[in-house]
Amino acid sequence: MEPLAKVKRVCKTKPSKITDCRIRGGVFTKGSCPMNGTRWPVVRTINEDDDKRLKSENFKKVTLLTSSDDSASLPKELCTMRPMRSLTAEEYVKTFQSFLDHSTEHQCMDQFNKKELPNIVASLGNGNSTINVLGVGSGTGGQDLKMIRTIQSKHPGVFIKNEVIEPNPQHILAYKEAIKNSSDLNNVSFTWHQLTSMEYEKQAKGWNTGKKYDFIHMIQMLYRVEDIASTIKFFHSCLNRYGKLLIIILSGDSGWASIWKKYRHCLPPTDTGHYITANDIKVILEEMALKYEVYDFPSVWDITECFIDGDTTGGHTLDFLTGTKDFMNTAPLGLKQQLRQALDQPECSTKKEGRILFRNDLSMIVVSS
Ligand SMILES: C[S@@+](CC[C@H](N)C(=O)[O-])C[C@H]1O[C@@H](n2cnc3c(N)ncnc32)[C@H](O)[C@@H]1O
Repeated sequence: MEPLAKVKRVCKTKPSKITDCRIRGGVFTKGSCPMNGTRWPVVRTINEDDDKRLKSENFKKVTLLTSSDDSASLPKELCTMRPMRSLTAEEYVKTFQSFLDHSTEHQCMDQFNKKELPNIVASLGNGNSTINVLGVGSGTGGQDLKMIRTIQSKHPGVFIKNEVIEPNPQHILAYKEAIKNSSDLNNVSFTWHQLTSMEYEKQAKGWNTGKKYDFIHMIQMLYRVEDIASTIKFFHSCLNRYGKLLIIILSGDSGWASIWKKYRHCLPPTDTGHYITANDIKVILEEMALKYEVYDFPSVWDITECFIDGDTTGGHTLDFLTGTKDFMNTAPLGLKQQLRQALDQPECSTKKEGRILFRNDLSMIVVSS
């Protein structure tokens, strides 16, 4: 724990005011309390009717955490904690990389690319000399480039026009770097849209060019779009006559689905993403009466370290899982314990050779035009 300030209890708090070790409160940041003039940050609890009384530039509202998890007893000590908050784009990049380093996410996609993708892309382009591809939320492009190579191998000599929609500038830079380091992409052009899918949709509707693509993919990105159904509808409408839309998303049997369904209350409210799986996407596609096929592939994420307090990898694991910055140090003890217990359940994880492996199974959904 990294408290902003730690003090002995300075005022009486009714046990009923303590929820999950948390009390509404504040700290006198300039080091003195107008009431007693001490030189140290003074922490005090507040009630709704105290709000006006404590309106001072010097008083910063924070959540007070008690050192005791037993809310029935009065805390002996109070400390003010940094509040929980969502990950920024840069922090997300870091925790996503940690997730990739400790999971078989990309190996799972490689299996799909090897076993199923060649057949799926074989009919693309309808014999034309150019195949138009659009990646939505492409990240650093690793998966895009593998799929481009599969398309190249099934359509030798055909020119591939590849467009990328990706809002994160760091990801676009890394994608461009990956292209520079590849010598086999001569017959491929790249166009960049540093936009969210919604921004792109608005722009495309404004241009009114009716641009169509043979292959559009949305790999592990629908969690963050504003309106999932309308996004699928729009991008499906951008397909050429024989085009295909590939959606890769967590499967309804994954540990994520179980955590979201049964332990939703364990997750902090700071995560701004949608808790959706392939099951939700199937419902949306059925409602739109679209034709699709689903391929399920197993994948795991080694989350062993998230059970060790103070572990850096464990910290990144919990941050990516909860969409929260520094969850290990900012979440109340009770929430942290509940989440760890949930992660240890058989529907979320399995144990192998002393490691705890979170079920990260993926579903690959191929929608026809
Ligand atoms: C989990 S990563 C997946 C990246 C890549 N497709 C892969 O599988 O390696 C999600 C990506 O979606 C991007 N993203 C987030 N919100 C988005 C939005 N509203 N529209 C398009 N992309 C978005 C993120 O910047 C990130 O690169």
